[in-house]
Amino acid sequence: MENNGYRLPRYARPRRYELELRPDLGSATFDGTENVLVDVLETTDRLVLNAVDLVVSHVELATPGGEVLRPEVRPDPSEQQLTLVFPKPLAPGDSHRLTLEFSGRLSDHLRGFYRSTYRDESGGERVIATTQFESTDARRAFPCWDEPDFKATFQVTIVCDPELAAFSNAPVESRHPRDDGRVEVRFAETIAMSTYLVAFVVGPFEATEPVVAAGVPVRVVATPAKLRLASFAVEVAAHAIDFLAGYFGIPYPGTKLDHVAVPDFSFGAMENLGCVVYRENLLLVDPETAAQTELQRIATVVAHETAHMWFGDLVTMRWWNGIWLNEAFATFMELTTADAYRPEWQVWTAFGAGKSAAMVTDALRSTRPVEYPVGRPEEAEAMFDVLTYQKGGSVLRMMEQYLGADTFRKGISHYLATHAYGNTETSDLWDALESVSGEPVGSIMESWIHQGGYPVVSVERGDSPAAVVLSQRRFVYDGRSSAERWAVPVNLRASVGGEVHRERVLLGDPLDTVTFPGPVDWVVVNDGAWGFYRTRYSPELWQALRDAGPAGVLDPLERLGLVSDAWAAVVSADGDLGDWADVAATVAADADPDVWGAVLGALGLLHLISADPDPRGAEGGAADRGALEGFAHRLAAPVWERLGWDPPPGEDERTAVGRGRVLLALGEIASDRAVAAEATRRVRLHLADSRAGVLAPDVVGPAAQVAVAAGDAGIWEELLDAYRRSDKPQDKLRYLYSLAHTPDPGLRLRTLELSVGEEVRAQDAPFLVAAVLSRPGQAQAWRWLESRWEDLSSRLPTNLVLRVVEAVTAFVDAGLATEVHRFCETHDTGITELRLAQILERMDLNVAVASRLRGTLSGSLG
Ligand code: BES
Ligand code: ZN
Repeated sequence: MENNGYRLPRYARPRRYELELRPDLGSATFDGTENVLVDVLETTDRLVLNAVDLVVSHVELATPGGEVLRPEVRPDPSEQQLTLVFPKPLAPGDSHRLTLEFSGRLSDHLRGFYRSTYRDESGGERVIATTQFESTDARRAFPCWDEPDFKATFQVTIVCDPELAAFSNAPVESRHPRDDGRVEVRFAETIAMSTYLVAFVVGPFEATEPVVAAGVPVRVVATPAKLRLASFAVEVAAHAIDFLAGYFGIPYPGTKLDHVAVPDFSFGAMENLGCVVYRENLLLVDPETAAQTELQRIATVVAHETAHMWFGDLVTMRWWNGIWLNEAFATFMELTTADAYRPEWQVWTAFGAGKSAAMVTDALRSTRPVEYPVGRPEEAEAMFDVLTYQKGGSVLRMMEQYLGADTFRKGISHYLATHAYGNTETSDLWDALESVSGEPVGSIMESWIHQGGYPVVSVERGDSPAAVVLSQRRFVYDGRSSAERWAVPVNLRASVGGEVHRERVLLGDPLDTVTFPGPVDWVVVNDGAWGFYRTRYSPELWQALRDAGPAGVLDPLERLGLVSDAWAAVVSADGDLGDWADVAATVAADADPDVWGAVLGALGLLHLISADPDPRGAEGGAADRGALEGFAHRLAAPVWERLGWDPPPGEDERTAVGRGRVLLALGEIASDRAVAAEATRRVRLHLADSRAGVLAPDVVGPAAQVAVAAGDAGIWEELLDAYRRSDKPQDKLRYLYSLAHTPDPGLRLRTLELSVGEEVRAQDAPFLVAAVLSRPGQAQAWRWLESRWEDLSSRLPTNLVLRVVEAVTAFVDAGLATEVHRFCETHDTGITELRLAQILERMDLNVAVASRLRGTLSGSLG
């Protein structure tokens, strides 16, 4: 064990915490008492544990022999530690009993033990005290050994006002009134677990009737007026725990599972054992009026957190460098679980967007390996990114497909059973998969997990008509060659004399030949498109595929892969925009939402480029804009013609989502006036009476965006008003974020100002600002951000500051980019160096693409 200042020594370990917390919601303070049973492994005169912003008023230790010792307390705020120095050495032995009295403030920064507020139905302000500890904030609520391998059991007691409800990891064991008028809610003891998974939530909450699933009661908890929005979450939560217990072949590790929605939360959700906490819009929903994407998001988030109960909570990474084990696996399981729940959603296809996003960051020079060293707390937080979640999840999917789903499942089950209640390294997972599959999993995964980047696999015809030759090299946007190699599981599908054949190779060397049983008509290299690599077809093989009609030959995920690869070629100055346009036109002929999502991503950037004042004069800008509008129109109008505004009864979910995306392309990118006018008309009717049925749930958001983008000032005001009035979390956010689409500088300013005002919660503010920054009008939005930086960033925890800064990756102007660089040099954003380097590299790349494409759109898209 390295002896870094911030790591705790390991000669003493907590075994059991008895924790009593007494929050006072009115004064936003708390005090607490804890008894910790400590095993001393080596003779020592001191114990070191973590604490931040806590006042420790009393400490004593009872030795196993019954002697009571009073240590000297030495706080070290810079290392977030507390050293207890005893008057004489503690002898090795079990069960020293350490008692601490402490107090602190309920913070307003969404971490540690913090305060959340909301208005009840009569308009009065209500206060909640709740926790968020991952990665290293349990130490803000009680002194503890706050590292994931110090697993211990927790017996929590909360003392609060009698009209409040309290929740923690385990079920309530007793609830007693106290002499001081408060109640004492005592919870059962938990399993041995890491401190970052402890939770307490106290407030005017109500819970749904428990549903028994996987043998334990499952509930949804919310503030009273919102409990009517809990039924969908109850259903998906019950499905998830049942499915996962079956998948892992291991019982749920707790004795109850509550899913709690709190009004203020900095992340999406948090997997506290038995007491998962969510943002309201990721748990509470009216299924009648919600968009498919909103419902699917809830189903996957609930599945993700439920999967953590095993993967993360029961078996935990030893240290934060292994966080990918937690999060990549939960991502993989969220999709596997949602896929089992509703196969027709095709969530793995939707995840194509996540995989593409990871491939963007991972093609930067400043990328990192999935597993990466972590030291100080802020470095742990920086690990939660697309490389951990989306690349990690994609690589696990690739491995699952390579080993076979059942073998993979057995390996996972074996891993969890072997390490239950313990901590692991990444290699433990490979060992388990190897022992079950007999395949060299560790050596295949090595290049994907311990090396940054990924390959592009090129394919061309070989010497015989039956052969194709594959080669690999690293894909990087800047094109400079480098020598890395990957063990690439390549699956090929070819038409051989009109019949489909499949071949599988593990491409390890730079070059490999694959021979089919006869002459190849066309070949698809990434069959199924679950491989984490790009494909480059020789012109002849691409032509063959194109002639075969990709719409019929390729499934949606494969088509998504094609457009995203073609776009990556444009970005790396390795392919023409015209080629991308050709691919886009070929694959986007139907309303597949995920293909359209990929097309829209590129159209969005082209939109910015053509909307941005052209340094070469307004003429050029207008020509670009006209070309883009024409292209988007040719792409979207025929599809929209078939779809129309009103879905036929019984329409499938995917088409419903696709309608919204095609609408955006037509209304906002192609600036179709008739469509925008109709969007405005329908939004207005919808706001007047949401039950009138003029807007299907999946098009409310897109229609509102189109209406605002078309420049109607009245509709902006109406949507702001609708944001204020609506009481469904999804509706609120749809209306709020649609405001960001205004082309009007005055309204843009008002939109931005909302993010520092009373009306928008800190948890939502960064997404609103990011939405404005990633649309035309960037210069104005950036000036605003510079002037309001203090006001905005002081409201936000670092993970949310990151959401704002990240939006500069959409900038397309070189002058602005220079200002951003200067800003980052002169401001402490709290963002780690590596994350900042990735953001700036992406921004610079985008600016370079913009300057290359500006003025050429009519040539390429014409
Ligand atoms: N463990 C995370 C929450 C978290 C992230 C805590 C970063 C501390 C730092 C949780 O399981 C998670 O992944 N939440 C996601 C939502 C999820 C469905 C992808 C989030 O909060 O974005
Ligand atoms: Zn997670």
